[in-house]
Amino acid sequence: MTSFPAGFAWGAATSAYQIEGAAAEGGRGPSIWDTFSRTPGKILGGDTGDIAVDHYHRFRDDIALMRDLGITAYRFSIAWPRIQPTGSGPVNERGLDFYKDLVDALLEAGIEPWPTLYHWDLPQPLEDAGGWPLRDTASRFAEYASLVAAGLGDRVPRWFTVNEPWCSAFLGYASGDHAPGRREPAASARAVHHLLLGHGMAAQVLPGQVGAAVNLYAVSAASDEPEDVDAARRIDGLQNRLFLDPLFHGRYPADVLADLEPYGLAECVRPGDMETISTPAGMLGVNYYSRHTVSGRADAEGFVATSPFATTSPWPGAEHVSFVSGGRPMTGMGWEIDPAGLQEMLTRVAAEYPAVPLYVTENGAAFEDKASADGVVDDPERVAYLDAHLRACHAAIASGVPLGGYFAWSLMDNFEWSWGYTKRFGLVHVDYPTQRRVPKSSGRWYGEAARRGGLADPGTIDR
Ligand code: FCB
Repeated sequence: MTSFPAGFAWGAATSAYQIEGAAAEGGRGPSIWDTFSRTPGKILGGDTGDIAVDHYHRFRDDIALMRDLGITAYRFSIAWPRIQPTGSGPVNERGLDFYKDLVDALLEAGIEPWPTLYHWDLPQPLEDAGGWPLRDTASRFAEYASLVAAGLGDRVPRWFTVNEPWCSAFLGYASGDHAPGRREPAASARAVHHLLLGHGMAAQVLPGQVGAAVNLYAVSAASDEPEDVDAARRIDGLQNRLFLDPLFHGRYPADVLADLEPYGLAECVRPGDMETISTPAGMLGVNYYSRHTVSGRADAEGFVATSPFATTSPWPGAEHVSFVSGGRPMTGMGWEIDPAGLQEMLTRVAAEYPAVPLYVTENGAAFEDKASADGVVDDPERVAYLDAHLRACHAAIASGVPLGGYFAWSLMDNFEWSWGYTKRFGLVHVDYPTQRRVPKSSGRWYGEAARRGGLADPGTIDR
């Protein structure tokens, strides 16, 4: 057996808009995802998160399911528009009560709560005022964080601030694939700075251990040609270093600042900002799904798989770069499966940045699950994906990386952003019309790994 260290967190992850539903209950205000999902042509099938998987009403059953499977840590997100329905002003007690009940029920079930404060559901009035490109949004976020700290700080020891600021900034404000759907590269560069600033300001008011959850990709050049090597530098810069360098070194990478020069990132930075952003936070969440193989050559045949719809580039300053095949098998999202890339990124982060505890806060795969009439899904491909990535984590730990836990994305099938309900990432299958939950083979497999604290030897994986 491949054993993980004692105390390793065996978790599962979700986010509020993707699972809660109850969009108009408990005093919740509208977020940018409510507005975006109601805009025709933005979400496959016209789906919304209005009902999602009704977790708001079923959270006690969902917690019991996790406990029965053997999962011991749960990463969920708090919906800002439940806590502050308009994005500013006093706390909405009914919204806070929902999360108090959730956290209490988790603790009672012996499951550690790992909340994230911002998984993309910006209160709509804050977007109307300018959104993340506006500096004031960072201050509003810190105010929201202090309300959450006051309400839940007595029972929650760790917090993630912003989830995947790359997506919020570049899919939200450059390509427009995500809410709020703006296609303004200069606004996306400003959003980067204010998301990071919001993280730093929140880190100063939250008790305990705090971190951002960034989505890192391994990046390879398609060849040794200078155009391809430069493309890899630019994409690694925008995807990885643009976030890691400010968080841990207190500065933006000079080459990326130069690439973004036309978009004015540097002009957003005020004295003291970089110190705030690099406030020692105590941990880092790493979301990892795949590797980018990139080419800078004009004749490269590429693809962009961030949205089911035609898209403008989410890569300001690297619009000419093509994403090409690296020749690996793919998941149902068209994302190449590359567990070695996870080990590479964990090892790199541990080597190049101060040795804060790392957590894989998301990793998982969508496949075309086939459910039998009673909702049973046998998903050996997902078992193989999780097994391979957990082995990559184990190898990283063995080489000295301070990795303290792993959160499978996702606990259950849910609203996959612009893909609506067409992509299923869950360890648990959800029949949307009835909301019936049935663990997939992968859910049972993962729960057993969690109970054992390790992976069975290859070839003896029980499904
Ligand atoms: C990540 C998101 C998460 C989920 C997975 C598949 O980018 O953080 O909400 O959609 O991808």
